[in-house]
Amino acid sequence: MSERTLTILKPDLLAARQQGAALQQILDGGFDVVAMRQTILSREQAEAFYEVHRERPFFTDLIAFMTSGPVVVACLERENAVARLRELMGPTDSRKAPESTLRGRFGTDIQYNAVHGSDSAENAAREVSFFFPELA
Ligand code: CMP
Repeated sequence: MSERTLTILKPDLLAARQQGAALQQILDGGFDVVAMRQTILSREQAEAFYEVHRERPFFTDLIAFMTSGPVVVACLERENAVARLRELMGPTDSRKAPESTLRGRFGTDIQYNAVHGSDSAENAAREVSFFFPELA
């Protein structure tokens, strides 16, 4: 069944000018782009988006990173989109990600990991409507 998920191409990926290559890999992976835009996250937006991580030790660094430059946010669609995107990204820690994955290709470590993808269907719905309320 066709499903939607949310991806963020993160500031490290855009700083490296690799967002086109990453998007091509996503398209080659069979995803359709339902909606997409480039933006700069405000501190308030980043904190709200990552609210579930507020108590984690990496939260302050994460917010600084995610607001350090432009990001591309996109709603993607394909069969089993949440799981398929997570496979395409590889694990959170880029150093552990296979070379063929987005994080293996473009990420640096556990924080500077190039891309975000929703981790469940429930969070995908929340994250898509966070950036694209018109799609809800
Ligand atoms: P993301 O999938 O966007 O979800 C939370 C983000 O926090 C993660 O990718 C990383 O960019 C960042 N992060 C930094 N340190 C950690 C950590 N120890 N565990 C998980 N995420 C981390």
